[in-house]
Amino acid sequence: MTTSAKPLSVAVIGAGMAGRSHAAGYRNVNTVFGAGLPPIRLAAIADANVALGEDAARRYGYEKALASWEAVAEDPTIDAVSIVVGNALHRPIAQALIAAGKHVLCEKPLAGSLEDARAMAAWERTADVVTAVGYTFRRSPGIAAIRDHVRRGELGDLSLFSGRYWCDYATDPSGPLSWRFKGGPGSGALGDIGSHVIDVAEYVAGPIAAVSGASLSTQIPKRPLPLGAVVGHNAAPVSDEVGEVENEDTASFTARFESGLVGTFSVSRTAFGLPNGLAFDVVGLGGRAAFDQHRPAEYLFDDAQPDTRTRGARQIIAGPNLPYFAGGVPMEAPGVGASNGDNFTYQARAFLDQVAGVAEPLPACPTFADALRTMEIIRAVVESSENAGAAVTIPPVA
Ligand SMILES: NC(=O)c1ccc[n+]([C@@H]2O[C@H](COP(=O)([O-])OP(=O)(O)OC[C@H]3O[C@@H](n4cnc5c(N)ncnc54)[C@H](O)[C@@H]3O)[C@@H](O)[C@H]2O)c1
Repeated sequence: MTTSAKPLSVAVIGAGMAGRSHAAGYRNVNTVFGAGLPPIRLAAIADANVALGEDAARRYGYEKALASWEAVAEDPTIDAVSIVVGNALHRPIAQALIAAGKHVLCEKPLAGSLEDARAMAAWERTADVVTAVGYTFRRSPGIAAIRDHVRRGELGDLSLFSGRYWCDYATDPSGPLSWRFKGGPGSGALGDIGSHVIDVAEYVAGPIAAVSGASLSTQIPKRPLPLGAVVGHNAAPVSDEVGEVENEDTASFTARFESGLVGTFSVSRTAFGLPNGLAFDVVGLGGRAAFDQHRPAEYLFDDAQPDTRTRGARQIIAGPNLPYFAGGVPMEAPGVGASNGDNFTYQARAFLDQVAGVAEPLPACPTFADALRTMEIIRAVVESSENAGAAVTIPPVA
């Protein structure tokens, strides 16, 4: 098949843990769902670690590797860009890309500080480009299905949400002091993984009105300085010198949603034995649903079955019955699985659907304004923890 549509040129800034997922996502966008997107030109991957960038460009079929994000901003042929570097760099990169007229998919949390996030959300209001944020769990078929149950009222009036994101990537005290351990209270486990479970909670159960009872703690207060590049959560050669961990390893808090629903949240990067444990239960007066990222191709669903002998939670296995699955995987058979990589493809597709103005787009990506809200909630959690767990209200959704 030939097409005369002008290709859409994409680039990824950051070739680390999540950067490669974005790179793979763009590569796959025209293999999923309906036609409508123009051909995608995989223009460039930029990383300050040149060898890493070159390796990613080769693996995922990008035309070139660039040594700086500035080179992406300056390239007039590039239309749309993912920002997938440490959070403190999101603001300056987003500013330059928006000024250069490029569409931006920025990783979560929106920025390294609330002040930066507010500035970015302000630019979004006047920008003439698509501005989106990578809350990838929204693309998980099981999580999207649970949201649909809630929206159709199939759990009845909601009464409880219990969410956690427990990971073990910071359990080893000899792990390097990477960017993840810098930035002050709220930028540790809360910003890195708590932001995901807060976003999922609001996506599934609606807006949070207030938080209280917050407590933050750091189990490993000092870590060795890395001797070279650190990628993702990986171990790396370290020096004998140590530096201060500036943010929390663990946090917990209670939330009250605008609907009156009560929520409890627990987040940790030092949860031994749990590599990627985002899990939640959402409970109503007439049903319950539960998801666990360690079993990403299923969720549990329970409602009032008429026959009391067979009441209990049912295991719903991902297949064409779930959102994103039909047309979203090569083998559309129930039970073949659901992967984190697929979620990044759906996210990339949703972003480019918006950019290209596709007639029937995937559900839109969260905006900078949505992601600012998550940061406001994190700031409120920190404030609650600094005031003996006092309740802190969140401004209502505009
Ligand atoms: N959505 C998700 O599921 C998900 C998962 C992991 C990470 N993330 C987010 O993605 C972002 C990156 O996280 P990561 O784990 O991939 O980080 P990482 O440390 O693995 O990779 C970051 C990369 O940025 C590069 N870099 C640093 N400074 C640079 C500069 N000035 N110019 C160009 N490149 C530079 C580094 O060399 C490194 O390769 C973070 O915002 C993180 O929160 C999202």
